Amino acid sequence: MGNEKACDIIIKDGRIFDGSGSPGLIGDIAVTDGQLIAAGDIGAWTAREIIDATGLAVAPGFIDTHTHDDMALLRQPAHPTKVTQGVTTVVIGNCGASPAPLGPRDDLVEPPFTFLGRSDGRKFETYADYVDALTKAGPEVHVIKLVGHSNLRAAAMIEPHGQPNDIEMAAMKAHLDEAMASGCVGFSVGLAYPTGNPAPTAELVELAQVAAVHGGLYATHMRDEADGVVASVEESIEIGKRGGVPVLISHHKCCGSENWGRSVDTLARIDAAADAGQRIYMDAYPYTASSTGLTAPMAARAERVLVTESVPHADQANRDLTDIMADWQCDMETAVDRLSPAKAVYFQMSEEDLDRILAHPRCMVGSDGMPSDDHPHPRLWGTFPRVLGHYARDRKLFELGQAIRKITALPAECFGLADRGHIAAGMAADLVIFDPDTVTDRATYEMPERVSEGIATVIVGGEVRYERR
Ligand code: ZN
Ligand code: CU
Repeated sequence: MGNEKACDIIIKDGRIFDGSGSPGLIGDIAVTDGQLIAAGDIGAWTAREIIDATGLAVAPGFIDTHTHDDMALLRQPAHPTKVTQGVTTVVIGNCGASPAPLGPRDDLVEPPFTFLGRSDGRKFETYADYVDALTKAGPEVHVIKLVGHSNLRAAAMIEPHGQPNDIEMAAMKAHLDEAMASGCVGFSVGLAYPTGNPAPTAELVELAQVAAVHGGLYATHMRDEADGVVASVEESIEIGKRGGVPVLISHHKCCGSENWGRSVDTLARIDAAADAGQRIYMDAYPYTASSTGLTAPMAARAERVLVTESVPHADQANRDLTDIMADWQCDMETAVDRLSPAKAVYFQMSEEDLDRILAHPRCMVGSDGMPSDDHPHPRLWGTFPRVLGHYARDRKLFELGQAIRKITALPAECFGLADRGHIAAGMAADLVIFDPDTVTDRATYEMPERVSEGIATVIVGGEVRYERR
């Protein structure tokens, strides 16, 4: 035993995908004190736990770049919706909504505030207050934080659906500054929503400049993902340039059949900005249906609408809007009115655009799941196994190594996570062991809360958090 060194965990004989995009190589990994200390041909070690990964893939823990898990992490720190998919890091505060400042706004029952779910009476005046609560809750995944622009407006403005005066603008910047100082890595906007949409480009540039002082990024649910999607991409690029911040285009898509195919144009503009030296990224979820608040104009554009939640008519969740209209013998506007506040799944994207966006080398994967919905979009439980199983293995849209890069090293680069997203000595011991032959999402539109298959072991910071064999 003389030459053997002791560590906490050894993962043996797995096919190691290091996050770089290259194909996997058989080898071992040694973990101690929450860190990877050796990978590949590791030499002689003893460990208190040896995990046999023969026939399985080993990858860095997955990073979910777009979530609304802010309040769910407080309610259920074990975070099963994501850990069961191999996710070890979530990015919260998207689409303009975060738990602070002053959120979630129970008085504003409209998107994006509703994405976080019920506040259970909790109100966080400052971002630091939320960070305190999160630390106390002790989530079992890493949490990367964005502050929501709609919160900045709601906290600073008397009428957040209008334009800020100079005093309110200064207050917004002070709230943003506080959030960045309290650990946010940037701010997000929901420019399609009532509190985000009134903001002109200049307001966003001014805020981006505040984030830039802290090295922050700008994550955008763009103003228009339908007819105006190309102009919206251009506005995002402009804000990044003038604000001096990296840009992340959230859940990139082209909505409505009349806009299918426009991703050729949007991706060309993103490539041109990147070629010109701008830091620009995007994410997408691997489904052709979206999900957000229920509105009549959005319902009118979709091929099919599935209601996922209705506050006054909870019994209508998981029903098609057309069936509800038939039952109630009313038109779409009336049905939407009676169901509201409500959320829905909209079938409105083309598989071709989705393939093109998902396969793009700057595209990451963000689930965008709504953890508080009664009948959520299946992306909440199925996104990552679906990328690995359906898109990489079955449809061969990209190599498995490339799929893994999209959900590990690329988001680590985007969010500046120096010790995550790669398998190498010195990195955090966030690891996923899965079976590349069987990994499959099981959540469907009909049964959205089914746990995925093929994810064997998930290790977060050197602790085994999930096992299924
Ligand atoms: Zn969004
Ligand atoms: Cu979102």
